[in-house]
Amino acid sequence: MAGQKQERRPLVAGNWKMNGLKGSLSEITAIRDALSGPLAAVAADVLIAPPATVIASFAAAVAGTRLALGAQDCHAKPLGAHTGDISAEMLKDAGASAVIVGHSERRADHGETSAEVRAKAAAAHRAGLVAIVCIGETQGERAAGATLSVVSRQLKASLPKEINGANTVIAYEPVWAIGTGLIPTASDVEAVHAAIRQDLKDIAGAEGSSIRILYGGSVKPDNAATLLSVANVDGALVGGASLKASDFLAIVRAYEGK
Ligand code: 13P
Repeated sequence: MAGQKQERRPLVAGNWKMNGLKGSLSEITAIRDALSGPLAAVAADVLIAPPATVIASFAAAVAGTRLALGAQDCHAKPLGAHTGDISAEMLKDAGASAVIVGHSERRADHGETSAEVRAKAAAAHRAGLVAIVCIGETQGERAAGATLSVVSRQLKASLPKEINGANTVIAYEPVWAIGTGLIPTASDVEAVHAAIRQDLKDIAGAEGSSIRILYGGSVKPDNAATLLSVANVDGALVGGASLKASDFLAIVRAYEGK
């Protein structure tokens, strides 16, 4: 679309992974209250993806506020004989507005392929959820100089048809940076995000400029401002530092005054 707005509203998202019980509601309410209080002027979307077991109860606490909830995975089908699985429609019904798909831990632990990730992202869209599609290279792939080719291949194979800035977010998460305290240099992040941006434009035309690209992997309060100021970094997908409201909010503050 000609004349489409190029500006992207940042998204700071927390992935709680397999952490969080009903009692963790206090972290959610602390984030919620900060977003309507001291951080009310911060122009960023904010989302927490807790375990599926608590989405419905947390949703009641954040209804009508700036804090959105996401899930961490979904099945590709809407319903059926798939014991233990959860569909995108069920997550939507529980109060999620987004779902992370293709996280490297699921690709590694559950052997998820990019084709499966693509089907899950399509399921998210079918259900009216934003798909947060994760991609990223391993340490070995980086050492072999294959980062850009791996990320590009994963991206193209993991995206369903008809992606746009409203229904899809990309999360670039180098596998070796997750939970390790290691982070790429700002120029490395810039190079990968620029390549992803170009791929998105090739795939989706002008819409490719409106799709947010998050960085994930050891984002902490003390490195957030640097990482989030890199070109084409439209926010963060935060793991460990999203479990405590104070740490997570310190990362959101990187967008204060922006
Ligand atoms: P950490 O922030 O704990 O490195 O995790 C990143 C991540 O995997 C988010 O999805």
